[in-house]
Amino acid sequence: MNKKTQQWVELDKQYLWHPFTQMADWLAGEPVIIERGDGFYLIDTEGRRYIDGISSLWCNVHGHRVKFIDDAIQAQLDEVAHSTLLGLGQTRAIELARRLIGIAPKGLAKVFYSDSGATAVEIALKVAYQYWHNLGQEQRTKFIALSEAYHGDTVGAVSVGGMELFHGIYKPLLFETLFVPAPHPYRFNGTTGQCTQYSLEAMESLLKANTGQIVGIIIEPLVQGAAGMIVHPKGFLKNVEQLARKYDVLLIVDEVATGFGRTGKMFACEHEDVRPDLMCLAKGISGGYLPLAATLATQKIFDAFLGRVEDFKTFYHGHTYTGNALACAAGLASLDLFEKNHVLEKLPAKTDLIFVALEEIRTLPFVGDVRQCGMMAGIELVQNKNTKEPFEYKQTIGAKICAAMRSKGVMLRPLGDVIVLMPAVGMDKTTLTELLAIVCDTIQNDLPGIIKGL
Ligand SMILES: Cc1ncc(COP(=O)(O)O)c(C=O)c1O
Repeated sequence: MNKKTQQWVELDKQYLWHPFTQMADWLAGEPVIIERGDGFYLIDTEGRRYIDGISSLWCNVHGHRVKFIDDAIQAQLDEVAHSTLLGLGQTRAIELARRLIGIAPKGLAKVFYSDSGATAVEIALKVAYQYWHNLGQEQRTKFIALSEAYHGDTVGAVSVGGMELFHGIYKPLLFETLFVPAPHPYRFNGTTGQCTQYSLEAMESLLKANTGQIVGIIIEPLVQGAAGMIVHPKGFLKNVEQLARKYDVLLIVDEVATGFGRTGKMFACEHEDVRPDLMCLAKGISGGYLPLAATLATQKIFDAFLGRVEDFKTFYHGHTYTGNALACAAGLASLDLFEKNHVLEKLPAKTDLIFVALEEIRTLPFVGDVRQCGMMAGIELVQNKNTKEPFEYKQTIGAKICAAMRSKGVMLRPLGDVIVLMPAVGMDKTTLTELLAIVCDTIQNDLPGIIKGL
């Protein structure tokens, strides 16, 4: 470790508290400190280069230090960095809202900005609840969500979260949510069709049993990322939409992870022609440059909040940095790059590369399942391939294999024992091929040794 790195490590350990991190392990370890980015690579204080295989936690779209986005932010800096949307308009925020509505699923008409995925979800939940309230249906207080759902870490988002490890401890603080088993074919004892049916029937029976009390259904469309890249069977999302319509509850889609090309289309909803009432966006919205999020709503929802001040229908919610001009400028530049670089058109060739590479490791011992939807993929490692028995939590196999990949120049972060691959949608094929080769090689050649050494 060079002297510079040593200093950064010391200061990090002295002052920082890292997210989702057991800090005792961190303090005992030798953390990597990132200093620069270069395209799809991150460079640390030792000058080592790593392929950013999870696009800086699922948000980077076109790479790091992309001149076109850098210039757009610089140009915006020459105008204004930030001014509030409370009582004022702002040119970049207006322009981006128009562009977002232009590409969003039909029916979405209004954009409410915030600054992270969790706040986008929080806003969707509050808008949905108040929508019914404003219509005189105050008895609607419950949401339906999927088991293993992840919608962020603020208390409202945690209330609709279904991951025991992350959410269990906070139960006494949370509002009531009805959970439906997520359709997870690998962990379901039966066919994929039966798996879908099982979840849909559970959802329908909850809707029936709680008629008039449900605000809406919140769902991560197609892929439950944080749960370990659970890919829903085809048609499930469309069926959920139909149930929402049949029982007259709102459909909230959380496209925070799936949005901006990750699933192969701009939004996951497009695969099944789903038209949500509310849609949550964040992560890739600014190209992965700056904290920005948006909750999109239909005209019908928006209209339910109109009235005289003394009607108390106003949505009393806002964040200081709502619609930040620099972030919106980055968002606009990112959307321009989608068009200029034909990002979506180039995706099938890249998702094929991932598919072919992962098919080759599917049969390896300890590889329980391989799941992929577009540029999102998960490789689930298990102790016993036949019984699907997982490794013990404390064995941290996922973390160990990712550490081995890191030493070969690939930066990944696992979800338990699921190795997550989430490269930037704009990643070139050469870098993607290199990333896949290192991931597959490590699972094939290093994993058996790691397991032996447990
Ligand atoms: C589906 C989904 N919703 C919400 C969030 C929360 O986003 P943020 O971390 O920006 O609050 C995430 C983050 O991974 C996510 O995957």
